[in-house]
Amino acid sequence: MTARHDDPARRPPLAFDDTAGPGPALVLLHGFPLDRRVWDAQRADLAARCRVITPDLRGFGASHDDRPFTIESLADDVHALLRQIDALPCILCGLSMGGYVALAFARKYAGDLAGLVLMDTRAEGDTPEGKQGRQKMIELARSPGGGKAVSDQMMPRLLRTGAEQHAPDVVRRLRAITESCPPLTIEHALAAMRDRPDQRDLLPQLRLPVLILMGEADVITPPAVGEQMHAAIPNSTFHVIANAGHMPLMEQPQEVNEALRSFLNKVGGLATSGD
Ligand code: MLT
Repeated sequence: MTARHDDPARRPPLAFDDTAGPGPALVLLHGFPLDRRVWDAQRADLAARCRVITPDLRGFGASHDDRPFTIESLADDVHALLRQIDALPCILCGLSMGGYVALAFARKYAGDLAGLVLMDTRAEGDTPEGKQGRQKMIELARSPGGGKAVSDQMMPRLLRTGAEQHAPDVVRRLRAITESCPPLTIEHALAAMRDRPDQRDLLPQLRLPVLILMGEADVITPPAVGEQMHAAIPNSTFHVIANAGHMPLMEQPQEVNEALRSFLNKVGGLATSGD
């Protein structure tokens, strides 16, 4: 059963879905410019194995907020929420920008993590060219119709080539999500990603089980980026999802759920029936 926490008067600062299940919590963090709806295919399916929590990060989805943030402050928000709803220690899974947040969380709150999933993300900070690209996109977001223009620029990079033909429903759902992201949140997220620190020094220090999942045809974070993280993290597993771009969770949900289930079993302490 999923409890929705959207009402700002009655919920913690972040809006979230909390789906009851056995064992510790699996917390799924969305990327940019997205919200918790990207995890619709994981929530119900994985709740047979664990409690599934999907927050909207500050400013995204129903977590309306006009204030600027950093990647570290997003990690602090998630930690405060999880403490408040008694969901620690947890297994934390971050997609892309959500992965940056998950790494910031792992640096600060390692003792509250039982496992970590890094999905289509990277540990290094932005290059100088990358930072310039963020600035250009901030200017685009500030222009009239900026939210839609950013969505138009992001969409072809999020899904594998030919998605319009192979998966029109995924394209439609993803477009609805990207187009609903508030321009001010887009601006704040771009600045937060531009200014995030390099986390590569953290990787060899991670002492918990880590799963690295990457879409085979991801043009934002290609599989080679995941392979480098795998080489640097002692207790890590690397899994490439075929026929997927930057959004394997929506493009190939069954394979992603299977990989997450195996990882949940590996991390242990979870219901094991069915395997
Ligand atoms: C994301 O998918 O969250 C972003 O594309 C990540 C980024 O731009 O660095």
